[in-house]
Amino acid sequence: MSTLDIRDLHVSVETKEGAKQILRGVDLTIDSGQTHAIMGPNGSGKSTLAYSLAGHPKYTVTSGTVTLDGEDVLAMTVDERARAGLFLAMQYPVEVPGVSVTNFLRTAKTAIDGQAPALRTWVKDVKGAMEALRMDSSFADRSVNEGFSGGEKKRHEILQLELLKPKFAILDETDSGLDVDALRIVSEGVNRVKANTDAGFLLITHYTRILRYIKPDFVHVFVDGRIAEEGGPELADRLETEGYDRFLTTATA
Ligand SMILES: Nc1ncnc2c1ncn2[C@@H]1O[C@H](COP(=O)(O)OP(=O)(O)OP(=O)(O)O)[C@@H](O)[C@H]1O
Ligand SMILES: [Mg+2]
Repeated sequence: MSTLDIRDLHVSVETKEGAKQILRGVDLTIDSGQTHAIMGPNGSGKSTLAYSLAGHPKYTVTSGTVTLDGEDVLAMTVDERARAGLFLAMQYPVEVPGVSVTNFLRTAKTAIDGQAPALRTWVKDVKGAMEALRMDSSFADRSVNEGFSGGEKKRHEILQLELLKPKFAILDETDSGLDVDALRIVSEGVNRVKANTDAGFLLITHYTRILRYIKPDFVHVFVDGRIAEEGGPELADRLETEGYDRFLTTATA
């Protein structure tokens, strides 16, 4: 079993007006096999948390710790974090012109595992995962995310998730912009990973609809750079009906 432990995390971002504090003391512990959902208003710092965990250079950790099984994640480079088992599906996946999906996946798999995957099983795995995600085989030869529709980009993130088999996956609004069928297909992909591996999940979302497919063990309300309340799945339903008003009043008081 593995544990991702975030303690009193403070993060700032460089802006033209100087450093701006965004995360203000995030505490969160995720164990293998657990699914944690984070919900919260726009601009509350959810993506900042995701990027900080992945090691995006734009974000500066000003205090606090992040450890994976006791190892200092913050001391690791971006690729060391990936090799340690962290995976981030970005809210806005980036385009990588000139790099085909096939090459990208194989390079990523090789870098993370420390050795190239056995060709025969790998080709089969990629094909199987693409079929399961209803991705046309023509995507394999296209440049990563270039010209992909919003929903196609999200499927490609889940394709990576299925093939790279991380210890902890952070999915930043993977459900946003998906049509009803795509939402189900993407959720099934996540649930396959949940069933076949011991991965822990951090699911950032605005909507309870994905949580009907992917059952969270815990729901955290993220407000003004920290977790304002925690509960079980019922908290997500409450947020959907009540909104974030009662938290915002507290946060600005
Ligand atoms: N480079 C930057 N310059 C100025 N402000 C920034 C920068 N990067 C992030 N911020 C600010 O940090 C805050 C948190 O942003 P973040 O993207 O983490 O929010 P979020 O909770 O993911 O929102 P959403 O639900 O809309 O995705 C926002 O107010 C954003 O404008
Ligand atoms: Mg965001």
